[in-house]
Amino acid sequence: MDQLLIRGGTPLEGSVRVSGAKNAALPNIAAGLLTDGDLRLANVPRLKDIETISRLLRHMGAAVEGDAAGGLTVSGRAVSRFEAPYNLVRTMRASVLVLGPLVARFGRARVSLPGGCAIGPRPINLHLAGLKQMGAEIDLSEGYVEAKAPRLHGARIVFDIKTVTGTENLLMAAALAEGTTVLENAACEPEVQDLAALLNAMGARIRGAGTDSITVEGVPALTGASHRIIADRIEAGTFAVAAAITRGDVTLTDCAPEHMVAVLGKLREAGAEVTAGPGSLRVRMGARPVAVNVQTAPYPGFATDMQAQLMALMSVANGRSVITETVFENRFMHVNELLRMGADIKIAGGAAFVQGVPRLRGAPVMATDLRASASLVLAALVAEGKTVVHRIYHLDRGYETIEKRLAALGADVRRVRE
Ligand code: EPZ
Repeated sequence: MDQLLIRGGTPLEGSVRVSGAKNAALPNIAAGLLTDGDLRLANVPRLKDIETISRLLRHMGAAVEGDAAGGLTVSGRAVSRFEAPYNLVRTMRASVLVLGPLVARFGRARVSLPGGCAIGPRPINLHLAGLKQMGAEIDLSEGYVEAKAPRLHGARIVFDIKTVTGTENLLMAAALAEGTTVLENAACEPEVQDLAALLNAMGARIRGAGTDSITVEGVPALTGASHRIIADRIEAGTFAVAAAITRGDVTLTDCAPEHMVAVLGKLREAGAEVTAGPGSLRVRMGARPVAVNVQTAPYPGFATDMQAQLMALMSVANGRSVITETVFENRFMHVNELLRMGADIKIAGGAAFVQGVPRLRGAPVMATDLRASASLVLAALVAEGKTVVHRIYHLDRGYETIEKRLAALGADVRRVRE
C-alpha cells in the first residue's frame, strides 16, 4: 500500500486544472447501459472508481474504451449479463447505479446490496421503493437485490429524504418507462443535472433537473450521444482549502464556481480572498483563518463531501467553530487522526466543536474514507514537521495524482510504497 510523506509549512502558489467530476462520471457511465448506441464522454477523471465501474460494465458485456483525449466511449450494445457481483459492488457503493438502467432496458437485474461503509450504513431502500412504484418486482436474497419488470411504468415518487444516487437511479429508470414519472423531493446536485443533460442528449425527455421536482416522459429507446462531464466541485473545493490553509495564492482552472457557492461563502467568511471568473477561481489567504460555523446539507447547502476538508482549516483557525453533519451518521472519522496532529476537537451528538490551535504537528495518520484522507493531507500541508498518511488508496478513489498536483503548487509531498 502506498503512503504520502508530507512536510508542512509551504504556502501553495500557482495554478491547477480541476478534473471532471467523479460523481457525475459514475452515473454517466452507467447510463451507457440504457442504449445500444455509443456514449462518447469527455473530461472523465482518471480515478480508481472510474476503473471499477468500467470493469463492472465490461463484466456485463458492455464495451468501455478509453480514448487518447482522456475520454471514454461506452457501448451497451452487447450487454448479456445483468448482474453486479459482490466483489465489485463492495469496493464501490456507486455500483448500485447499474440497477435502474438494467431494469429499464432489460427488465431484470441482480445487484449485490452495497453494505455500509466507513461513513454510515447507507441503505438503498429509497432506490428500491421507487422501482417498486414503477412496477418492478423486488426480492432480496443472499445479499443481492433481484429486480424484475417486463416494462416499467411511470409513477409519482416522493423521496423521504434527498438521495443523490437514488434520484439518479430512478431518473435513468424513468427515461425508458412507459408514461410519465415525477420525482418529488429529488436531489438537486449538479451531478444530477449533468446526468439529466446527458439523458436528454440521448433522447430522453426530462424537465426540472436541479430542482426538487423532476418530470420525465418515458420514451421507447435512447440513442448514443457525446457529452462533456462537469468539473468536480469537491476536488475544486479541496484545492481551494489547500490554498487557504497554507496561506497561499492558487488559481483553479476548468472549474465551476457556480456549483460551489456555499463552500466559497464559508471560505470568504473565514477570511480568504476568493475571486471567481468564468471557469476559474483564485483563492488567496494572507492571515490565520477566522473560525466559522458550518452545517452540511443537500445541495445547494454546504456539501457533506467538504465537511472534513473545512474541519482541517478550522483546526488552525482563530476561535471556536461548530461543525454539524446532517447527511451521514458517522462522518467524523477524520477527527481522531486530526487529534493526533494536535487539533482540539470534541464531538457531541451530530456536531464537532473545533477550538482552533496556532499550529498542528506532523504525525503518522491513517486515512479511513475518501474525504477524511483529503482532510489529513490538508492538515499535513500546514503542520510543523513530517506527516505520513497511510492507506492512501482511499485518496486515489477521488483525486487524480493529487501528490503531483500539490507538489506542482510547491508542497513538499512524496508518494512512497509502504
Ligand atoms: C452521493 O452518495 C455521493 N456519491 C457521495 O459522495 C455524497 O457524500 C452523497 O451523495 C451526499 O451528497 C456519489 O454520487 C457516487 P445519498 P449517495 O443517497 O447517493 C440516506 C464521495 O465522497 N439514504 O444522497 O450514496 C443515506 O444513508 C461520496 O464522493 C437512505 O436512507 O448518498 C444518507 O444518510 C461519499 N436510503 C443520506 O440518505 C436510500 O435509499 C444521503 O445519501 C438512500 C440514501
